[in-house]
Amino acid sequence: MSEGAHLRHTEAGQPDASHTAILYLEDLNVSFDGFKAINNLTLYIDKGELRCIIGPNGAGKTTMMDIITGKTRPDSGQAWFGQTVDLLKLSEPEIANAGIGRKFQKPTVFESHSVAENLELAMHGNKSVWYSLRARLSGEQQALIDETLQTIGLTDHYHQAAGALSHGQKQWLEIGMLLVQKPYLLLVDEPVAGMTHQEMERTAELLTSLAGKHSVVVVEHDMDFVRSIAHQVTVLHQGSVLAEGTMDEVQNDQRVIEVYLGE
Ligand SMILES: Nc1ncnc2c1ncn2[C@@H]1O[C@H](COP(=O)(O)OP(=O)(O)OP(=O)(O)O)[C@@H](O)[C@H]1O
Ligand SMILES: [Mg+2]
Repeated sequence: MSEGAHLRHTEAGQPDASHTAILYLEDLNVSFDGFKAINNLTLYIDKGELRCIIGPNGAGKTTMMDIITGKTRPDSGQAWFGQTVDLLKLSEPEIANAGIGRKFQKPTVFESHSVAENLELAMHGNKSVWYSLRARLSGEQQALIDETLQTIGLTDHYHQAAGALSHGQKQWLEIGMLLVQKPYLLLVDEPVAGMTHQEMERTAELLTSLAGKHSVVVVEHDMDFVRSIAHQVTVLHQGSVLAEGTMDEVQNDQRVIEVYLGE
């Protein structure tokens, strides 16, 4: 383990001008039946950054998200949210409450409820549907819903049943359902799979607009899409970081070309 890196989160409370990471993954290992899905994975995500994670099938991208969200426990290593929150000590709901939102590939909106009701339900978290839809919204909560609808481009669909939205619109609504919970970190796995070209462009704008306010980690195979949003790109391969840099840097990296892009 690199001492320097480790110190980044052990100096809790010390102002650290050089590093403003929101997520620290260090020396993580996970085996499934003897197969190393995650292998000494070390990765840092900065506050407000938009990071793209790419890599071949089976590289460990989804498993990495499973570790961050508490779905999978690593055999060894560390995972810290900011300098003080040890993710490996928290349950999945506790991690969500701490401010990490995850969007799965398949949209899971409430089809028979309206777009706005879906946001209301998400805002009330784990309270019952009955409670959530009868509770009067405060001015602040209503403002958050309006602002979120604007962000995800669904203001004109306020009263529409979510089930009647297009595939792309459902994906945006689900991102909105994360946003009303005010996450610090958003994890998005393959957001543009199945989208039209136009929906992809709109999704690129949406994710780009979220960076700064939130830290956003996007796993995606579509290289044109990654290029359109990427600042820093991390390439995973066999459970480890193979390369990290700008899109141009990783696309011209000989090892990356061999294992992934050259296919
Ligand atoms: N719960 C599990 N039990 C057993 N093996 C698993 C489990 N989860 C993942 N794996 C294995 O771990 C490896 C990494 O899988 P993972 O889903 O993280 O890859 P990925 O990078 O997300 O791939 P893709 O691009 O196809 O989504 C794969 O070989 C997968 O079969
Ligand atoms: Mg995956």
